[in-house]
Amino acid sequence: MASRVEHPAAGYKKLFETVEELNEPIPAKVTGAIPSWLGGSLLRLGPGLFEVGSEPFYHLFDGQALMHKFDLKNGHVTYNRKFVRTDAYVRAMTEKRVVITEFGTAAYPDPCKNIFSRFFTYFKGIEVTDNCLVNVYPIGEDFYAVTETNYITKVDPDSLETLKRVDLCDHLSVNGVTAHPHIEADGTVYNIGNCFGKNMTLAYNIIKIPPAQNDQSDPIAKSQVLVQLPSSERFKPSYIHSFGMTDNYFVFVEQPVKINLLKFLSSWSIRGTNYMDCFESNEAMGTWFHLASKDPAEYLSSHKFRTSAFNLFHHINSYEDQGFIIVDVCTWKGWS
Ligand SMILES: [Fe+2]
Repeated sequence: MASRVEHPAAGYKKLFETVEELNEPIPAKVTGAIPSWLGGSLLRLGPGLFEVGSEPFYHLFDGQALMHKFDLKNGHVTYNRKFVRTDAYVRAMTEKRVVITEFGTAAYPDPCKNIFSRFFTYFKGIEVTDNCLVNVYPIGEDFYAVTETNYITKVDPDSLETLKRVDLCDHLSVNGVTAHPHIEADGTVYNIGNCFGKNMTLAYNIIKIPPAQNDQSDPIAKSQVLVQLPSSERFKPSYIHSFGMTDNYFVFVEQPVKINLLKFLSSWSIRGTNYMDCFESNEAMGTWFHLASKDPAEYLSSHKFRTSAFNLFHHINSYEDQGFIIVDVCTWKGWS
């Protein structure tokens, strides 16, 4: 049975603050001059709620998703913000406690439940967060707020109201996808995530979501796995935050930062484990560069390159130049 234990970060210094959402847009203070021809809306996502009841969210990545909107018109700017009504947010606000485990904050069982119902809750399955605080991007005519799990949340870019949650697992064989897809000029969305393929073999799937459909149907319903890339380790996918794409190729960097899936599956919630606890590093594997062609979509197994261990979050740019693929990535050495 889990018991409420002091979090290692208890007594932590508060580095971030909860803010209130707004009921209506407010005028923004403009420094300098915004050209009058510049108009439109800028949407941004970020964390905005760091306490619920008496419980804190410990990590910056755990704050509940707050969507910001800047409307630019005739040199003036108005600003609005609203929390996304994810399951994680709504249940936390309703129960006044952390209900869904976040990256660095473990959720504890409902103290109102007796020991037997708590026991069965553990084995009902892992409740993966839908706290979409990382990014917002268009799919077809719609806008989705996202994190790195299998859940994406459709939002209204005008009112900032939350419309619906979509489970990508209903449409695709992926455990989750990155918050940094590539979107082509016609609206086609490409992304990558890990998955268990045939015979429970771990792999990485590049997915494709088509642009807006003439018949107004949901493009997500027509999404597909385009190409599968192999994993160097059977139960430990590399953490993927972004990937590269050129006109004709996908670039995937398989880094030494690993997610220990056995740890993830076995110790979840029983020991108050959070996502962060399931990360580890295997520097001995080095770093692998994988390539796949776009059309036809094929894994290029003969073009797999290994280099020394480094870690990365963001691909900066990838492009083709005189028969080469140039990959610009922001990296650091060592996992600590
Ligand atoms: Fe990022």
